[in-house]
Amino acid sequence: MSNKIILKATHIFSKFASQKEWLLKDFSFDAKTGEIILIKGDNGSGKTTLLSLLCGIVPKEIKAEARGKIIINGIDISNLTLAQSSPLISMTFQEPDYQLSFPKVIHELAFGPENLNIERQKIEDRITNVTELLKIDHLLYKDIATLSYGQKKLVTIASILTLSPKVLLLDEPDDGLTVASLENLKRCISCFQKDKLFIISTTKSYFNDVADRIITLS
Ligand SMILES: Nc1ncnc2c1ncn2[C@@H]1O[C@H](COP(=O)(O)OP(=O)(O)O)[C@@H](O)[C@H]1O
Ligand SMILES: [Mg+2]
Repeated sequence: MSNKIILKATHIFSKFASQKEWLLKDFSFDAKTGEIILIKGDNGSGKTTLLSLLCGIVPKEIKAEARGKIIINGIDISNLTLAQSSPLISMTFQEPDYQLSFPKVIHELAFGPENLNIERQKIEDRITNVTELLKIDHLLYKDIATLSYGQKKLVTIASILTLSPKVLLLDEPDDGLTVASLENLKRCISCFQKDKLFIISTTKSYFNDVADRIITLS
């Protein structure tokens, strides 16, 4: 199913109440399943806001003025709740503590697919596959509170992969990872790439060699 347009964002405008000018101004792009797209730009250029808009967190949870249309797999997600749109498009936050909500890693990884009523064996297979690829299988039964920042980041990334939406938005996933973990993450993304669209915000160049496109915000 590669080469299918999975995301269509048209005429996106957004700004927060405190901002006079549009932060995102008439921004449009299409993206296909199988692509890895990087969103680059300096701190404050709007990378997190763009990802949050694409999945609907802005304006549904974080209030901002937002215009334009976002269509995922033919569906206008503005009419869906975040829970309803999560199998289509989901995001991991730069700061893992904003996202992690369970005591143990295994619970965090099972929550998304359990909520979608995916069968138990399939959930276990996803968890095994993802944690082996990211080399965090030894953390499965650990308390999240005992993990390092980088390990927490990998758990949030693993949790979006076990949820398995069609479009995955990763907000600065490279921030705080060791070089070895980054290599594991890149390999993991490549394994899932064929059936997914990855949109990755970053200020660094780690993902340049696997990216199909780079969009720079200014
Ligand atoms: N929830 C918010 N409320 C008000 N202003 C915000 C909010 N989030 C971000 N901003 C502002 O919007 C601009 C873009 O922020 P952000 O999208 O976080 O950029 P980046 O991720 O590229 O660092 C910044 O000026 C930031 O201060
Ligand atoms: Mg950001």
